[in-house]
Amino acid sequence: MKAVCAKQYGPLQNLQVCDMPKPEVQASKILVRVHAAGLHIGDCFTVRGTPFVVRMETGWRRPKSGVPGYDFSGVVEAVGEGVTDFAVGDEVYGECPGSCAEFVLVAKDKLTAKPNGLSHVEAAAMPTSALAALHALRDVAKLQASESLLINGASGGIGTFAVQIAKAFGAEVTGVCSGNNASLVKSLGADHVVDYNAVDFTNSGNQYDCIFDNVENRNLSDIRRVLKPSGTLICNSGTGASGLAFWIRLLKPLVLSPFSKQRLCRYLSVPTRKDLEVLSEMVSDEKLRPVVSEVYRLDSVAKALQDLESGRTVGKRVVRVIEA
Ligand SMILES: NC(=O)c1ccc[n+]([C@@H]2O[C@H](COP(=O)([O-])OP(=O)(O)OC[C@H]3O[C@@H](n4cnc5c(N)ncnc54)[C@H](OP(=O)(O)O)[C@@H]3O)[C@@H](O)[C@H]2O)c1
Repeated sequence: MKAVCAKQYGPLQNLQVCDMPKPEVQASKILVRVHAAGLHIGDCFTVRGTPFVVRMETGWRRPKSGVPGYDFSGVVEAVGEGVTDFAVGDEVYGECPGSCAEFVLVAKDKLTAKPNGLSHVEAAAMPTSALAALHALRDVAKLQASESLLINGASGGIGTFAVQIAKAFGAEVTGVCSGNNASLVKSLGADHVVDYNAVDFTNSGNQYDCIFDNVENRNLSDIRRVLKPSGTLICNSGTGASGLAFWIRLLKPLVLSPFSKQRLCRYLSVPTRKDLEVLSEMVSDEKLRPVVSEVYRLDSVAKALQDLESGRTVGKRVVRVIEA
């Protein structure tokens, strides 16, 4: 099969389209022919092998598979022994390492039926980012109707889903993004949009029940000023720092949180079939739709990941593995 692959950790330009053995179906697993693969910043980390912690999953000295991508949408090619709820020909979407390839072998609890009405490209845009938004707002923040939420990075991969999910929960949403993306964030349902080039939201005088920070470009003390005394701050970015600075930024909110009434949190979003089904239902109910800003060919994955690293992604970037 064709796949995009880099045999060593290093620059994104190392990625090349190569021939690899097609995975063989195994018990309790589903072989999926990938139509589209969604990308997110974590795919850049796994190609570069930094931050170093990603190697716990991808291999210490060199990448185990070297194929980037987690999110996919495609069609079931074969099912393993013990799989009764999927059949050959079913359209599915979900998460599996190495989705920038013609086939992936997926655990049965990491995929579900593709949402009705979405193309494969749109469905592939959803899993990691939409689940990260759902887990932050539903499970970490326990966001309630009429609570106020500020989303920093509201126009990016996670932010565009978070705005819609928060509105579906009945929250009052303020989205922070550049002026160029203000109308998009508004169209997704945000009640207020702050252009960070015009207004510093940490000096606005407002206070929020919850802040979902996908950028972490501000001092923790500045952010806490606009969080209510018993509010929840969800820190959700590992980028923009390296070495000791990375660890300090990662750990500081967690160390301070026990000494404050404010909850200062980080979290790890773990995909489940049950929560993919929650997303599908929100799509069916017209409460959620992916924003796909750019579609790439399989031989342009390196370019797609470079574009992601620019920090200027609007919604999601997706690779079309099977040309329409
Ligand atoms: N916790 C987890 O389990 C989990 C899972 C997945 C990802 N993540 C993390 O989540 C973070 C966000 O991911 P993402 O996919 O949403 O990133 P992304 O799509 O790359 O976000 C890009 C967005 O950031 C915005 N941005 C850039 N500078 C900004 C600023 N100064 N103020 C406000 N917004 C700014 C940009 O908006 P403008 O162009 O409008 O400036 C752009 O739309 C990443 O750091 C990733 O590592 C965590």
